[in-house]
Amino acid sequence: MKQVVILGAGGLGRQALAQLQVDRSHGIDWVIAGFLDERGPEVVPEVLYYPWLGYPDSFEPQSGHIFVAAVGDPSSRERQVLPLLEKGAQFISVRTRTELGARTSYGSTFFGYDVSSGVDCRIGSYSFIDQQTMLGHDVVIGDFVHIAPRCLLAGHVNVEKGAVINSGAMISRGVTIGEGAVVGMGAVVFKDVPPGATVVGNPARVVFHR
Ligand SMILES: CC(C)(COP(=O)(O)OP(=O)(O)OC[C@H]1O[C@@H](n2cnc3c(N)ncnc32)[C@H](O)[C@@H]1OP(=O)(O)O)[C@@H](O)C(=O)NCCC(=O)NCCS
Repeated sequence: MKQVVILGAGGLGRQALAQLQVDRSHGIDWVIAGFLDERGPEVVPEVLYYPWLGYPDSFEPQSGHIFVAAVGDPSSRERQVLPLLEKGAQFISVRTRTELGARTSYGSTFFGYDVSSGVDCRIGSYSFIDQQTMLGHDVVIGDFVHIAPRCLLAGHVNVEKGAVINSGAMISRGVTIGEGAVVGMGAVVFKDVPPGATVVGNPARVVFHR
């Protein structure tokens, strides 16, 4: 039986664990092995009953291991995922109670509860799309993207690699969120967001560039 290794033991890691424990594949296709976290063993609370397995950069994946990426910050997530990929780690997608439209494709991305999408979306890998987010049709989401709970992305929105969309944001039809950009909580975005920019408010305006 496969063993799931959760990368990240913070809030998202604990959320991923709880969701994996009720997934219909749990105990049938795989069991949970424990956590990797670059901060060390002390960040894994005993109450979780799963061990800290090691540091992501020195961990050696075994043939039965499959991985879930649950680190919030996209650049930190990428920094921790890449060394594991180089050692042959296989990341999986988790889609508990997810309703994805016809012909929607996705890579090794984690979907929180009740995420839904319209038809013909393309969703990349190592992204984390949190609870109750709704995607319209033809939405494109790159790799290492983070979308917080209850966001609304209208049709043809394009979210480039490493972008962050914070809780409750709404993105208007056809808008591109550039690589590494950040959308503030509750923002309503009507125009493209340049790569690396942070936007807030309604209508969203750029407050600074990274
Ligand atoms: C976008 C965000 C990340 C920017 O945070 P930051 O880099 O610390 O920026 P600051 O707090 O210095 O804010 C810069 C300015 O934008 C304003 N601002 C920040 N976030 C705002 C928001 N969501 N809506 C409206 N205005 C906002 C601030 O008041 C400040 O304005 P000022 O210069 O007039 O004082 C942050 O505001 C945000 O939305 N955080 C949400 C985090 C979150 O809950 N994530 C969900 C995880 S599950």
